[in-house]
Amino acid sequence: MRTVYVNGEYLPETQATVSIFDRAFLMADGVYEVTSVLGGKLIDFDGHIKRLERSLGELDMQHPPEMGDLLDIHRELVRANDLVDGMIYLQVTRGAAADRDFVFPDPETTRPTVVLFTQSKPGLAKSPAADKGLKVISIDDIRWGRRDIKTVQLLFPSMGKMMAKAANCDDAWLVEDGFVTEGTSNNAYIVKGNKIITRALSNDILHGITRAAVLRFAREAQMEVEERSFTIDEAKEADEAFITSASTFVMPVVEIDGVSVGAGTPGSVSRRLREIYLEESMNAAI
Ligand code: PDD
Repeated sequence: MRTVYVNGEYLPETQATVSIFDRAFLMADGVYEVTSVLGGKLIDFDGHIKRLERSLGELDMQHPPEMGDLLDIHRELVRANDLVDGMIYLQVTRGAAADRDFVFPDPETTRPTVVLFTQSKPGLAKSPAADKGLKVISIDDIRWGRRDIKTVQLLFPSMGKMMAKAANCDDAWLVEDGFVTEGTSNNAYIVKGNKIITRALSNDILHGITRAAVLRFAREAQMEVEERSFTIDEAKEADEAFITSASTFVMPVVEIDGVSVGAGTPGSVSRRLREIYLEESMNAAI
């Protein structure tokens, strides 16, 4: 049985509870982070905590008292669960107010709820999907306008994954005003003539921590990066496509809406970026 963390306590998962009045349960009033663990070490930890601070700030949410201890809590969960490869999920909510009310509760009396748990994924970095590549469909992006905040309001991304599954595909790319925003739970890229193209940062997409690292490594390796929007038609005609996220790292995309991208197999730029990302981030893991 897993050991999880809830509001200052480490507990067996079956004994960990949160109030039915918690605002994340009633209103999706919570933010989260997913940090991957490889070889028992945390990947891109600082980036995830910085983004958590930003998400909290954008929603006028209090920083929980354990903010400064988050590294120790992550490490303790890795230790207590003998986690080698997998993820740590962290969620902070606006807490459990006395009643259901749209108005934010007084932060003096309603403290944030903090929950962390581990998910074991042995061999996470050696996923067979990386050799095969993913098939994606395109769907309309009908999410809210602050996708830069990592909230737990994930119903549409979840529906998108189900639409992909129904089409015998692995994931969906979201399209707004004719341009790809991102994947349901990842950032989206295409490669054309050795140029890596991905949408620029704005409130329209999550500012991926893996994205930031991958683009930095790409530039360091003298690869050309262009941060601009692209369409599904352009993606279908690209040489390669891929996604990035904390749980997939760099993952090739080989088919979009039934059309093969490039040769229909993972391309050399995607494969190289995956190798560089895994090597560099494992070296820097803490
Ligand atoms: N998802 N875009 C969206 C909509 C996401 O949900 C995620 C991450 C990303 C990639 O961000 P990062 O590189 O920081 O993981 C982009 C996580 C993994 C999840 O919800 O499980």
